[in-house]
Amino acid sequence: MSSPRAHTIIHDIGTMVTPARVPAPIRGDDLAAVVQVSGAAIAIGDDGAILASGPEAEVRAAVSSDDDTQFHDARGALAIPGLVDCHTHPVFSGDRAAEFELRNLGAGYEEIHAAGGGIRASVARTRDALDAGTIAPQVRRHLDWMLAAGTTTAECKTGYALTLEHELESLKVLQGVAADHPLRTTRTLLAAHTVPVEFDGRADAYIDEVAIPAAQRAVREGRATAADVFLERGSFDVAQAERYLVAAQQAGLVARIHGDQFTDQGGIEMAVRIGARSIDHLEALEPDAPRLRALAQSDVAGVLLPLSSLFLGRPYAPGRELVDAGAIVALASDFNPGSSYGESLTLAMSLACLGSRLRASEVLTATTVNAAWVLGLADRVGRLDPGYRGDVVLLDQPSLAHLPYHVGSPAVRGVFVGGLEVGAAAAGVYA
Ligand code: NIG
Ligand code: FE
Repeated sequence: MSSPRAHTIIHDIGTMVTPARVPAPIRGDDLAAVVQVSGAAIAIGDDGAILASGPEAEVRAAVSSDDDTQFHDARGALAIPGLVDCHTHPVFSGDRAAEFELRNLGAGYEEIHAAGGGIRASVARTRDALDAGTIAPQVRRHLDWMLAAGTTTAECKTGYALTLEHELESLKVLQGVAADHPLRTTRTLLAAHTVPVEFDGRADAYIDEVAIPAAQRAVREGRATAADVFLERGSFDVAQAERYLVAAQQAGLVARIHGDQFTDQGGIEMAVRIGARSIDHLEALEPDAPRLRALAQSDVAGVLLPLSSLFLGRPYAPGRELVDAGAIVALASDFNPGSSYGESLTLAMSLACLGSRLRASEVLTATTVNAAWVLGLADRVGRLDPGYRGDVVLLDQPSLAHLPYHVGSPAVRGVFVGGLEVGAAAAGVYA
């Protein structure tokens, strides 16, 4: 039998690291189980899937090459699976740099929100940009940043539009931008992000008249695979969040929850009750709380968002305790204009080590296999094993241990999606 022809061979990899072949989702001690191979190569076929990976001699013997095969010299770089960001908010216009300054001078994030700034400020600008048809280049620019940082798959939420038509338009714009962008994206309807100004004091009416119909239409029109809610004082309470998410599930969407960011509102119990895929943030979850154990024993993932802890000067989620208790733990950027204006998953990995006391191997699994599981893509992305999509990040690091240790360094030397090297150039779209 002839060996399969490689479209791309990435060779002279210093060290290749990929999660061990434990089925997803990965919990407990298995989170730290990774396979490390020095002197490695990765061969990718014409369909963009990995044909072989591992010791270079074995990979070269397993595949054939011809004049059209692309050889990429990794020059001793560290190779990891393309990173999977399972929680981002890229559909917004403008930014909130002025608010960042105000916060640094003493104003509180929730205080700014209560005064009509914060999310509502981004909503006003985003609605205008959607109406003017000027938002697509801004969304594209956000996706470009993610790709350049080593993210090859990202979940993208709406949530800065908050009318039925604007939320659906946000999904449509994402779909349009993603159609010719190398980043693989999934779309989540975050119609219940906050109560927009025209529904002030009428959160229940907003859920019934906007959020639930938006979820139903998003499914009918094939625009989203998940629904999300911000369960927090000042946004939605647990009854409202549950009504929206259960309706979304009935329509066919996966349920996600922003919970325990500032306060415990019963989000973990609700997530377990309704069978949500994840609860994200968890900065208000005490390490010894009984509900931490309840989350750990469930099939709901806990998604750590340490860039938002850094950005808001908040506690870090109890990642160590969650892993030790056997929870499904994933790690994401929470890229958004107000609480985490940063797309770097490598920085998130450093912060999860420093702030939540995770290990380098654990944060790798949390940003690859487990993040892919949260998105329902664990059979396709997140590993460097044969059959997985040829998404590879090359980093200027000598070993996996150096990745979170080298804080804030981009160190990205190459990003491959489906075996193709992708460049990302973002410029000139200031709005
Ligand atoms: O995930 N927590 C709610 N939503 C975002 C922040 C939104 C904003 O400030 O614009 C988050 O942190
Ligand atoms: Fe978020």
